[in-house]
Amino acid sequence: MNDLFLRALSGSNNSSRPPVWLMRQAGRYMHEYRAFRQRYDILTLFHTPELIVEITQLPIHAFGFDAAILFSDILLISQALGFSLRFEEGVGPILTPPLTSERDIKRLYSRDVITPFQHIFKAIRELKRVLQVPLIGFAGAPFTVASYLIEGAGKSNLKKTKKWLFESPDSFIKLLDLLADYTIEYLNAQIEAGVDAVQLFDSWADSLPQAQFEAFSARFMKKVMNGLKKCPVILFCRGSSLFADTLATLSPQAISIDWHGDLEQIRQRVGEKMVLQGNLDPDVLLTNPSTVIRETSRILRSMEGDPAFIFNLGHGILPETPRENVEALLSCVHRI
Ligand code: CP3
Repeated sequence: MNDLFLRALSGSNNSSRPPVWLMRQAGRYMHEYRAFRQRYDILTLFHTPELIVEITQLPIHAFGFDAAILFSDILLISQALGFSLRFEEGVGPILTPPLTSERDIKRLYSRDVITPFQHIFKAIRELKRVLQVPLIGFAGAPFTVASYLIEGAGKSNLKKTKKWLFESPDSFIKLLDLLADYTIEYLNAQIEAGVDAVQLFDSWADSLPQAQFEAFSARFMKKVMNGLKKCPVILFCRGSSLFADTLATLSPQAISIDWHGDLEQIRQRVGEKMVLQGNLDPDVLLTNPSTVIRETSRILRSMEGDPAFIFNLGHGILPETPRENVEALLSCVHRI
């Protein structure tokens, strides 16, 4: 069993290199994944345990990452909350009907977010049997999930969400509170099924000013963390380099840093103990192997010998990423 990731996650990695995995590592940049997509639509992939197990392992076998992330999506929970979810080519996710006002919140009462996902927990149990690396479970953070439920689509500028949040903060908090409860139930079931760590994705947190980030994003990530069974938690948000200090005060096991910030400076700000994950700009992976090696080495040098560092990207890997660049990244991390 390769436990490099868990050692770094506990702040005690004394080996000569950090562990490495990439957000969205099982996805369209891999021809093996695209072959599955030729045969099945995306929701079939997300809902078939045998396929979840196979796709989760694809990048581990192809590149030798030190951790696997469950092949799933942060938006599946919307299906259990009564939304119709589809992913449209070139458009992204579409959720209908979106929440439009406080009155709609009652649509979300008394939902079962466990029974509809038995196939996911089954896949986790099977993955734990076959994987030689730790398995990361995940969920969307309440703020990002709320934004999708309100906007009803992916490529939006969050206008409706922010209008709601500024005009009617109490009802927005009611919504976040409810979503936090469901997220706790859903993640605890992943933990019971065997995941070794969980990551919360607050992808849209960077649209918030500091005060609103604390009131609507951070507070509910903390609520989720407080409700979880014992398991290391990694917090990721777009904006995490800006909000690193606030994230550190929530005391997760690790914070995943976006590509804006400088890891050495963030290390100074949050102290030695906080595990840091990140933060190569995913656009670097669109260049060429020598540029990838140069930029990867720069980050590795800046965090050299840090026992609490996990190499990752600052956000998800892009579908256009050439495979040879991922290979160059891995060989660079493995070489030191
Ligand atoms: O990291 C992994 O390999 C595990 C799987 C994973 C997916 N989505 C699979 C997926 C994870 C961790 C996610 C998280 C996710 N999903 C986030 C948070 C991370 C981030 O990127 O900010 C968000 C915001 C989503 C919502 C989502 N799902 C969008 C906006 C889209 C469409 C745009 C896109 O990136 O394709 C998806 C679809 C999706 N989720 C795909 C995959 C592999 C692509 C599906 C396909 O067309 O084959």
